Amino acid sequence: MLAVGSNGAGKTNLLESLHVATQGFSPRTRSDAQLIRFGEAGALVAVTGEHRGSSVAVEVTLRPGEAKRARLNGASLRAAEELRTRLPTLVFTPDRLVIVKGGPAVRRAYFDRTLGRLFPSRAAMSADYASTLAQRNGALRRVAAGFSPRDALEPWTGRIAELGAALVSARSELVALLSPAFARAASALRLEDAELRYEGTAASPEELEARVEQDLARGSTGAGPHLHDIAIVAGERDLRSFGSQGEQRLAVLSLLLAEVDLLAERGSAPPLLLLDDVLSELDPERRAILAATIRRSGAQALLTATSAGALPVDPDVLIRVTPGQAVASA
Ligand SMILES: Nc1ncnc2c1ncn2[C@@H]1O[C@H](COP(=O)(O)OP(=O)(O)O)[C@@H](O)[C@H]1O
Ligand SMILES: [Mg+2]
Repeated sequence: MLAVGSNGAGKTNLLESLHVATQGFSPRTRSDAQLIRFGEAGALVAVTGEHRGSSVAVEVTLRPGEAKRARLNGASLRAAEELRTRLPTLVFTPDRLVIVKGGPAVRRAYFDRTLGRLFPSRAAMSADYASTLAQRNGALRRVAAGFSPRDALEPWTGRIAELGAALVSARSELVALLSPAFARAASALRLEDAELRYEGTAASPEELEARVEQDLARGSTGAGPHLHDIAIVAGERDLRSFGSQGEQRLAVLSLLLAEVDLLAERGSAPPLLLLDDVLSELDPERRAILAATIRRSGAQALLTATSAGALPVDPDVLIRVTPGQAVASA
């Protein structure tokens, strides 16, 4: 599907509402109040569609100062965010270039979410590690301030080493799986010799023990997967520093397409693809390749552009967006 309309018509709005309805949150903002139309007391997104051959109906209700509420096929969910474990959606917005351009923390967060999507049983690993890390850092500060004895650290050191090693090995496995699929997608989009590299090794309890004086002095744990990075490389160039804007865009798209491939390989239903402003900055050949790749993947996709001519092939559905209205024509 291609949604077209002039700047400010509401294309991003439409795409964002599909993200809210399938994932329970906005890809743009953590502030749900921003999603409610100015001057209104609340918002409702209701979506019906098809997933794994059966019909689904979702309703997400937002009111300022209240938790979002979501219903899936009539049943209330505990939290709207639970939708993300039920309905797979992958999103590209120009903001997502930060995955390539931004600091290591952005990439860690992105790949840890990818880990959760491809291996649902590993979805909590990163948060479990982070909360244990916060506990150990708290203990470090209490010991440094003289409120706790030194041996209060020991259980946290053992625990953080154990959770850290598990997270490093899960991430390494993810990168080993994702990197070839990423290289294939990138090469199709004419970004050659692309690769993902996990940078960092797990810290053993002995290593953590050996640097405890430093950790006490800085009040935080100075080794482990919370400091690691995943390099996004093409032809030996780290695209973070040496990629053009266009190459960074191709890399983010390739990550998405790689995930679509892997989800299919693992027998998951194809995700919904939401691609906002993806066509600008791509040359006509790459636009055609992208369109063909999406068709082949079997994923349902919504792309936005300012004019229908931006897509070199006819979409199955063309949606004309004007302020307050979206009209589809087959
Ligand atoms: N909470 C809101 N209530 C009403 N209008 C909003 C709200 N947030 C943004 N807008 C406006 O919606 C319009 C459409 O935005 P957008 O969907 O980003 O357009 P585009 O078609 O260029 O992607 C913009 O003019 C924006 O200012
Ligand atoms: Mg927009």
